[in-house]
Amino acid sequence: MRTDDIKAVSVIGAGTMGRGIAQVFALRGYPVTLVDRSAEILSFALERIKERTDPEAWEGVLQRIRTTTRLDAVSGADLAIEAVPEEIGLKKKVLKEVSVLLKKGAIIATNTSSISIDSLSIAVTAPERFIGMHFMNPPKVMRLVEVVRGEKTSDETLSSIVGLVKKIDKTPTISKDSPGFISNRLLFALIGEAMRLIQAGVADKESIDTVMKAGMNHPMGPIELADFIGLDVCLEIMRTISDGLNDKRYAPPVVLENLVKEGKLGRKTGEGFYKYS
Ligand code: NAI
Repeated sequence: MRTDDIKAVSVIGAGTMGRGIAQVFALRGYPVTLVDRSAEILSFALERIKERTDPEAWEGVLQRIRTTTRLDAVSGADLAIEAVPEEIGLKKKVLKEVSVLLKKGAIIATNTSSISIDSLSIAVTAPERFIGMHFMNPPKVMRLVEVVRGEKTSDETLSSIVGLVKKIDKTPTISKDSPGFISNRLLFALIGEAMRLIQAGVADKESIDTVMKAGMNHPMGPIELADFIGLDVCLEIMRTISDGLNDKRYAPPVVLENLVKEGKLGRKTGEGFYKYS
């Protein structure tokens, strides 16, 4: 399957990332089938897409996105992108089901942010047509799509997906399958160190964020960013990278573990390192 043969896209999981990915493709003119577990989740996803779409583009986007709770609706897709929660068992189950339903030659991608592509590839029928497409949050705004090549991913699949990322006006990077890929290995080195600075009493969170914003021109400080990502998600990613690389530098700091235990997960719960009203 070449880039231009990819004409219809399915996205499985209509949460934060799935609905954003569906929006990106619909805005570029692709028909998209968006699958999730319930009609309520799907209608909420459409509402959020509408809020984030220019009014003049909305009618076209709405016409192009078909929502459904039936996984077999993926069968018409040339590319299926899995965006269900970051749990290896769930991802394998969904990928297995999708790979059986897809037409011959179709590509399956996963939006995983930290799980090994090779460990997921065991679940699919054609690992040569399986690849990581790691969109950033929010997909409409962020330019990067980190393309992750598994050991069995074919050259054709890789070049087709890299071409597609460019075609939807995003910037592709290519990474081998390694814990945290490029993006999270770099990002969590920073976020982990920022948390350890707080833990060691070197500086408060405001000072740490200010250094990176005013001093390094980062749009958000690392502590603000951790709250934005979700501290539970940060904890899981850090565990995956530290276990995968066997590198203690990525071990989650105690201050992070404690906040997660207290249910302070960042913006989404109203409190993390910062409080949100
Ligand atoms: P989310 O929890 O917001 O959305 C996941 C969606 O999948 C939910 O709507 C859920 O109902 C649905 N789902 C669960 N089981 C399903 C099934 N069997 N069939 C169909 N739908 C099912 O999660 P989020 O944040 O969108 O993350 C999805 C993936 O994207 C994860 O792998 C995550 O690591 C990755 N990611 C997340 C980023 C973020 O900032 N949230 C950034 C980049 C990647």
